[in-house]
Amino acid sequence: ADKQPTLWGMPLKYVSLVTLAVQNALLIIIMHYSRVSTAPSKTYSAASAVLLNELLKGSISVMIALSRIDLTTNAPDIDSGNTADKSKRPGSFRPSWDNAAFRVWKKSRRLAREVFSPDCWKLSIPAILYVIQNNLQFVAASNLDVATFQVTYQMKILTTAGFSVLLLRKRIDASKWLALFFLALGVGIVQIQSGHTAPRASSTPAHSSEHTHSMHPLHGFFAVTAACLTSGLAGVYFEMVLKGSQADLWVRNIQLSLFSLLPALVPVLFASTSNSRWPLSGIFNNFGGWAWATVLIQVFGGLVTAVVIKYSDNILKGFATSLSIIISFLASVELFDFPITPAFIVGSATVLAATALYNRPSQSDHTPIAKSVAS
Ligand code: C5P
Repeated sequence: ADKQPTLWGMPLKYVSLVTLAVQNALLIIIMHYSRVSTAPSKTYSAASAVLLNELLKGSISVMIALSRIDLTTNAPDIDSGNTADKSKRPGSFRPSWDNAAFRVWKKSRRLAREVFSPDCWKLSIPAILYVIQNNLQFVAASNLDVATFQVTYQMKILTTAGFSVLLLRKRIDASKWLALFFLALGVGIVQIQSGHTAPRASSTPAHSSEHTHSMHPLHGFFAVTAACLTSGLAGVYFEMVLKGSQADLWVRNIQLSLFSLLPALVPVLFASTSNSRWPLSGIFNNFGGWAWATVLIQVFGGLVTAVVIKYSDNILKGFATSLSIIISFLASVELFDFPITPAFIVGSATVLAATALYNRPSQSDHTPIAKSVAS
């Protein structure tokens, strides 16, 4: 078992949870603003953003994984079949090129062996699902208010529970089913009040300018519902793969990013060839500061999610989720003049109460569902 690491003297699991709560809220706010603050014809490509996200996340995971490889430990040698590191044997020949570059090369070789392990294909399923989910998030962010998106997105707890029952044969006690019922009810209340205003223009400062962006809450609702389905399935599947082997989390993350590249590239290629004569030309058109901010926050979130999956649990993840709802709500009121309606308050309070009820300690904690919800 991994020992609990600390950051600035605080347990990493708490740091990662608070960070995830702030990241969750920030991502939805920045993503929403980046999409609705310009006319649809002037906005950046969501598919390019998703591809960039995977490229950056994969590169960072490679660097972290490389830094974690300890060349003094035993590992199967691909050439000789020996399990010992030759340079560490007493009296063994240490080549003059045993320098930093040589170590990087050796580490890379070992990492490549781990990444391209026979079971790496298992990551293809969550990888494809996460690419779909990350694209759907942009559709949702373009068509829903920040607070409505955030609250509706809590349905992923419901889908995660459903897939855990189906795939992991997880048993969920009565209080958790009740919480899931209230979660759906709360989301429904928020959604009904949001639907009554559809379709409408963005309430960002750009609203008064020529950059009016029409929002279609029904599209947003379908996108967020589908994203919840992929989130639940991908989370549970990722958990199954992670628990089914001893592989390092960062190696799994690299595998996830590698398998994401193809599905992320296809829509980019498709859009670029239909818009211009040269493939991949103009894929970063309209990629301004807000688009970059969205991608960087998404990359950061993916990495923090990985840490949360590893070091946190169901109860604490619930606090992070609730916290991000409150942060998004307060930010929406402040930044986007989000109207505080009684229906929104009742719906959000129901979702918060359901989240708290679901995350109450019970006998089933620290079991598959606990980890899968943390994903
Ligand atoms: O909303 P949810 O918690 O399902 O979002 C998970 C996000 O974290 C997705 O954007 C996914 O691409 C990312 N992720 C990741 N690495 C993991 C697991 C999830 O980058 N190991």
